[in-house]
Amino acid sequence: MKTVALVGVQWGDEGKGKIADLLAAQADVVARFQGGNNAAHTVVRDGQKFVLRLVPAGALHPGTVCVIGNGTVVDPFALLGELEALDRRGYPLDRGLLRLSAEAHMVLPYHQEIDRAREARLGRRAIGTTGFGIGPAYEDKMARCGVRFGELVNFAALRRKLERNIEEKNRYLKAVLKAPKTAGDQLIARLRAARPKLLPYLCETGAFMEEARAQGKRILLEGAHGTMLDLDHGTYPFVTSSNCVAGAAFAGGGLAPGSLEAVLGVSKAYATRVGAGPFPTEIKGGLARLLRREGEEFGSATGRPRRVGWFDAPLARYAARLNGLWALALTKLDVLTGINPLRICVAYELKGARLSGLPSPGIALEKVRPLYEELPGWSEKIGEARRLEVLPANARRYVERIAELSGVSLAFVSVGPQPEQTIVLQSPFDS
Ligand code: IMP
Repeated sequence: MKTVALVGVQWGDEGKGKIADLLAAQADVVARFQGGNNAAHTVVRDGQKFVLRLVPAGALHPGTVCVIGNGTVVDPFALLGELEALDRRGYPLDRGLLRLSAEAHMVLPYHQEIDRAREARLGRRAIGTTGFGIGPAYEDKMARCGVRFGELVNFAALRRKLERNIEEKNRYLKAVLKAPKTAGDQLIARLRAARPKLLPYLCETGAFMEEARAQGKRILLEGAHGTMLDLDHGTYPFVTSSNCVAGAAFAGGGLAPGSLEAVLGVSKAYATRVGAGPFPTEIKGGLARLLRREGEEFGSATGRPRRVGWFDAPLARYAARLNGLWALALTKLDVLTGINPLRICVAYELKGARLSGLPSPGIALEKVRPLYEELPGWSEKIGEARRLEVLPANARRYVERIAELSGVSLAFVSVGPQPEQTIVLQSPFDS
């Protein structure tokens, strides 16, 4: 298979960075197709930790072309900062190795100011956004007043548009959000200074990827966040402002439907979520603290402590259906070492009735009660395992039960943060 998408099965932070990096080693092109720097993909290379927010995981593989597709929203200053940091650490992305869609929208300071001011006003009803302006940037895209990277070509016209936008945003910030004005002149000056650095990356990325595909190149479409944060299919309104399911790879990547040959879902061996919203299998108390500490469950984008919970099979089945999962990459199995017994949510209960899937539309997910199956844990360290057969019997039973309950076979089982700490059962690019 040559064109493969990778998506999160849960609420983001599934460990997509590590799996994307493994697959990127086999890919010619790696493309992001949605989201912005609210994503944070952690990759460990030679003991060094890299957190990639906008740049795809291909960045750490010299020669692999990284594409930032039209469906993304990109903070131009954050992008340049990320590129400079990668350069300093020995991973330069020269012209030709980074292709930024001329149709991708910019996240500008006024989007971030609106995002933060709104969250502050919502108080206890806040969504718990990353505060990076993602929602307001997508709103402008839909309202057709967003700024696309291609507009940098004619800066005089862009300046006039920015002035109009800034005036409107300032009225909204002042009158509705009671927040300070945005620094409009400063934004225009910063963008003018950034322009020569950004222009060389501009590209018609859909056409570029179609050409690569026609030449038989391997393309990895790297999804961000997770299915349960999808704007339509997730736990609305506690979601991000883009579609995160595999279907978004077409509209947001610019490839035609039908070109995708496999979708790999990434899931933790347990569950986590940052921000507010329903989380049926959430664990509180001492066990939650232990899991958070062992799994280093603090948001890579914001540093916030993540909420933790048991593996939720009804949600995995839902994600498998929505994304048409070919297989599952299960991450952080090692974190569960020493926890006994383990639990897997196999179904939900709602008003005395057993549900094997999500409740019907209109019924909030927080109303359901998870029904668990208990499995014995294991105490042996598993970081050295490279084959399923060498895992402790209970660890093997646990992962096989997850695959069985999710209705999807396993492709990878991750037993530690290093790339080599992975049990590879099947790689989509080798299938
Ligand atoms: P936003 O994407 O910043 O608007 O935040 C909306 C919701 O999505 C919040 O609950 C965030 O914590 C969550 N979120 C956004 N991106 C990620 C991610 O990459 N991992 C985990 N949660 C995320």
